[in-house]
Amino acid sequence: MHEVSSAGAVDLSVKIGALRLRNPILAASGTFGYGLEFARLVDLNRLGGFVTKGLSREPIEGAPAPRLFPTASGMLNAVGLQNVGVRAFVAEKLPVLRKFDTTVIANVFGYILEDYVEVIRVLEDAEGLAGYELNISCPNVRKGGMQFGNDPSQVAEVVGAARKAAAKRSLWVKLSPLVTDIGLIARAAEEAGADAMTVANTYPAMAIDFRSGKSRLGNSTGGLSGPAIKPITLKLVWETKKAIKIPIIGLGGVETVEDVLDYLAVGASAVQVGTASFADPRASEQLIEALTAVLGRTKAFTLSEIREKFIAENG
Ligand SMILES: Cc1cc2nc3c(=O)[nH]c(=O)nc-3n(C[C@H](O)[C@H](O)[C@H](O)COP(=O)(O)O)c2cc1C
Repeated sequence: MHEVSSAGAVDLSVKIGALRLRNPILAASGTFGYGLEFARLVDLNRLGGFVTKGLSREPIEGAPAPRLFPTASGMLNAVGLQNVGVRAFVAEKLPVLRKFDTTVIANVFGYILEDYVEVIRVLEDAEGLAGYELNISCPNVRKGGMQFGNDPSQVAEVVGAARKAAAKRSLWVKLSPLVTDIGLIARAAEEAGADAMTVANTYPAMAIDFRSGKSRLGNSTGGLSGPAIKPITLKLVWETKKAIKIPIIGLGGVETVEDVLDYLAVGASAVQVGTASFADPRASEQLIEALTAVLGRTKAFTLSEIREKFIAENG
């Protein structure tokens, strides 16, 4: 990572809808706890922001161990969306988080439409949040377990309902990567009132031990993340960019400052850092230092110029 001598001289701030972030680097949902767990290691006030662990109506215990398994250039996880539940988050975590000057986005999920609405309703009454990120990669139990995020009409329905509930704050929608036409899904979310799109979640995957025949995870399948997914998600961000006008937050395998710049070049306004925080909890903060250093060294090298160059080459 680069050393920064002139930190602060470079303005890295970005606008995501009505929100202004200090810089385009956020920590991703499920990989940064409720933020508080990282506060002794990371200066939360320097981050562009962070997204909380997914919050549900009721507490969830999560999946049996093992929950993580390293794969070639990636990581499999099956955490089972363990969380304390939205009410305990508001009562126990938010009061401490309010002491920090950072942008906190609450990740929200559910298994029926009303779950999403209820979680947002509880959060709307609490102080200290900048917005919501809807995880729509969840099975809709009313539709036989089909993921909300796989069907444009379900996406429109859940985003529309969340938009009504989220009167006060920004609404980001986190897309599922395993869809036939991500542009179609993104447009449905945009038309239903989303302020920004997060692209994307993990890829359904599995790892087994052929000797025992058992899964390497407590669940039989999990989600793949890390550098292995970056080229695939980079393409999804580009396709999403061509389909919608609202800002995009790219995430998938961001490890180096080059990864950040790649995502910004194809049209993301910001990025999130997930798996990289497992290897080094300070990964997001170090990327901010590296980005500041890169842009500080080459004065003409601005974020918008990076994007213009890519568009000129690729349309
Ligand atoms: C252990 C783990 C837990 C996660 N939990 C959530 C979650 O609760 N909600 C969510 O929307 N995404 C969750 N994700 C997905 C990440 O936020 C991110 O979309 C994905 O890991 C890809 O980014 P990465 O390659 O930088 O890790 C989780 C990922 C991991 C590795």
